[in-house]
Amino acid sequence: MIESMDRLVLVAGELHELSGPEPQWPGGRETLFHQPGAPLPARADVDAIIPLVSQPVGEVELAGLPSLRVVANYGVGYDNIDLAAAARRGVTVTNTPDVLTDATADLAMALLLAAARRLREGLHLARSGEWAGWHPTQLLGMGLQGRVLGILGAGRIGVATARRAAAFGMEIAYWNRSASPAMESEAGGKRIEDLEVLLSAADVVSVHLPLTPETHGLLDTVRLASMMPGSILVNTARGAVVDQEALAAALSSGHLTAAGLDVFESEPEIPANLRDLPNCFVLPHLGSATREARQAMWDLAAANARAVLSGEAPLTPVV
Ligand code: DGY
Repeated sequence: MIESMDRLVLVAGELHELSGPEPQWPGGRETLFHQPGAPLPARADVDAIIPLVSQPVGEVELAGLPSLRVVANYGVGYDNIDLAAAARRGVTVTNTPDVLTDATADLAMALLLAAARRLREGLHLARSGEWAGWHPTQLLGMGLQGRVLGILGAGRIGVATARRAAAFGMEIAYWNRSASPAMESEAGGKRIEDLEVLLSAADVVSVHLPLTPETHGLLDTVRLASMMPGSILVNTARGAVVDQEALAAALSSGHLTAAGLDVFESEPEIPANLRDLPNCFVLPHLGSATREARQAMWDLAAANARAVLSGEAPLTPVV
C-alpha cells in the first residue's frame, strides 16, 4: 500500500486526450493517470476512479482501494464492475447513459446496412481489381422496407435504433422485460413476450441488452437455430450475449445470411472464424466512437466523480 498526503482521482490513461492534462477535482485532489492495460493499483489515497469498460473492478480491486468513494465508469455498460462488492463497501457506481445513445444507434444502423447490403463483399470486390462490371444479380442483398426488425432490449439505444430503422421502412418488434412506451410511441414497436417467437418472426435481430448472468450466452445454438432462415444478426451491446461459436456455425451454414458485430466476448480478440467469414461484418467496438459522444462521456463521468467527492448526488448513478 502506497500512503500519501495527497488525495487522488485515478483516471484511465487512455482518457488523457479527452480530459486534458489537469482535470479539476473538489478538495484540490490530483489526477493520477492509470497505465493502459494494467490492473488497478492498491493504494489508500485514491478517492475516485474513472475506468474504461474494459477495466475489471471487482472485489480484489475494491479491496485494494479502501478509501474509494466512487467508480465513475466511462461507458453506459457496467458489467466490468462488481456492483454487489461496491455496495458492500459503500462505493457509488455511475455510468454514462444518454450521451452515447445516438452514436451507438447510428452504428447499429451502419452494421445493419452493411450486413443487409453485403458491404464487406462489395468492398472486397471493388478493391480486388477483379470487378467485371455492373451485373443484374451481383451481390444481391436484403431490402429493408417492410422487413421486421426484432430489437432485444428496449433501453435508450434499442429505442433509438428502432426509430432509425422505422425511418427505413422497417416494422419493429421488441423483446423486453416490461412494455416500453417509448418503443411503441416513437417507433411503432410491438412487444413480443416470447423470445423464440420474436426470433422466428424477425428478418433482422439487433441486440441492445446489458450483459448480466441472465443474458450471458442468451443467443445460443438453440436460439440462433430458431431465428428465421436467411435472417441477419446485429450486435452493438456485448459480445458475450451471443455464443460466438454457434454464431459462426449459423453463418457458415447459411442459416443466417449475415451478421454485423461491433462487440466480442473477449475483446480485443475477434474469433478468426467470425472475422474471416465474408458474410460477417466486424468492427472493433466503435459504437460510441464519435468525437462528440466520447467527449460527452468524459464530461459526464467526471461530473459524476466530482458530485460524489463533493458530497452531492451523482448525476447518473447505476441502480
Ligand atoms: C459502453 O459505453 O458500454 C460501450 O460499450 C463503450 O462505448
